[in-house]
Amino acid sequence: MSNKTTVISEEQLRTQFDYCDKIAAYWREKDTVPVAYVETYGCQQNEADSEKIRGLLVQSGYAIGTEAEGADVVVMNTCAIREHAEQRVFGNLGALVHTGQKIFLCGCMAGEEIVSNRIKNSYHHVDGVFSTHHLWQFSEILYNVLTKGKRQFYVADEAGSIAEGLPQVRDNKLKSWVSIMYGCNNFCTYCIVPYVRGRERSRRPEDILAECRELVAAGCKEITLLGQNVNSYGKDLDCGVDFSDLLAQIAQLDGDFLIRFMTSHPRDAGKKLFDTMAKYDKIAKQLHLPFQSGSSRVLKAMNRHYDQEKYLAAVEYAKSVMPELVLTSDVIVGFPGETEEEFEETISLIEKVRYDALFTFIFSPRHGTPAASMEDLTPKEEKNRRFDKLCAVQNRISEEIHAAYIGKRLRCLVDGMDGDQLTSRTEGGRLVRFAGDEGLIGTYQEICITGSTTWSLTGTL
Ligand code: SAH
Ligand code: SF4
Ligand code: F3S
Repeated sequence: MSNKTTVISEEQLRTQFDYCDKIAAYWREKDTVPVAYVETYGCQQNEADSEKIRGLLVQSGYAIGTEAEGADVVVMNTCAIREHAEQRVFGNLGALVHTGQKIFLCGCMAGEEIVSNRIKNSYHHVDGVFSTHHLWQFSEILYNVLTKGKRQFYVADEAGSIAEGLPQVRDNKLKSWVSIMYGCNNFCTYCIVPYVRGRERSRRPEDILAECRELVAAGCKEITLLGQNVNSYGKDLDCGVDFSDLLAQIAQLDGDFLIRFMTSHPRDAGKKLFDTMAKYDKIAKQLHLPFQSGSSRVLKAMNRHYDQEKYLAAVEYAKSVMPELVLTSDVIVGFPGETEEEFEETISLIEKVRYDALFTFIFSPRHGTPAASMEDLTPKEEKNRRFDKLCAVQNRISEEIHAAYIGKRLRCLVDGMDGDQLTSRTEGGRLVRFAGDEGLIGTYQEICITGSTTWSLTGTL
């Protein structure tokens, strides 16, 4: 695997757009408007990638459908983070046999050799497999499948590239994802992402700023900057712009909008980042700072490059400059060798920090990662017990934090309808439901908070 980041040239992209034209001509000749369906699993990075896949499909003459049934093309954009995620994909893939549809599998699972081989040998109804490195070649792959009648596998292991200027069909006009970098260099011992998404590579600041400017001009109210570790943004560029600088530049764009970002790795989330967040009104006072474990021994075994003390110090500083900060995190229980005492350190860290919400996971061994071959003697029942305890503690804390919102007046972005209620988000990203007219969607409103649950708030205009 080479370490050099390649930027896809304009000429290479033009070749891909030519394929789009050829596919569109292919369907025009048949006098049909074909339908495509893209199913997305996993994280926001995949959501953002799916918007590009849809962009290429629309440019190739496809209408975008809302279900697999009846679609001419089905694309499954998959996640490999835990075994359960993969099982779901294989299950859903199995259901598509003998439908006569053109089936594609892409995303993180497609980056695993073991998966692409399994598809090659046992899932003959899948017409194309392409890893995230080959997303920009999707129209070529689709064209080959349509015209050559031969299965296509674009899964070569690569450090990765950057393709600017791919068309995008965005799901949401109010809230947009903007990938600022791709890949990951951290190699946490449990994690498959660095193997399937390649090395860290940053987009140029001017390209990101241009995209943000365009989004705001088109009415976007929330921009979420995406990267596996946004704090290492710019390290591979020689332009002297780090993540905090980039945030500051975006925050100085004209318009009424908020900036969010994820994910921030604690190893290099420092004062400069928190000071920048505190300084600009346009940066939401919301931070997703995954800690994974409260035990310094386990953190070392996870290759996380920080310990409990350093993590708590970072949180303390962040809260000191942003008292209203909404803090969320990821945690893994049952990492190989985690003892009862070490698990209790995780509980005690949660009690100290008091997160607004937590994403909780039971360790899942991933093929090829160091943790998958570590000795793991803790029985499944014991891991489940720890998991349940962790969730109970966090639910109590979330409930308490939410209850403290009652009586407050908050500025919220109204973003949709759920049943007969409007849904909105606080600056910190908490969900608030209230009664109101559909016409308010897309506006900011002052909401008085009147009720709360573990997961959300209710209020009145
Ligand atoms: N880049 C992000 C994480 C992306 S994966 C970060 O470093 O914060 C999202 C979460 O999935 C991780 O934070 C971790 O908590 C969880 N996760 C990753 N690999 C896992 C595994 N093998 N088993 C269980 N949970 C895992
Ligand atoms: Fe995985 Fe760690 Fe990279 Fe996050 S930082 S994607 S957990 S290797
Ligand atoms: Fe899953 Fe890939 Fe995201 S493994 S969590 S879709 S980076």
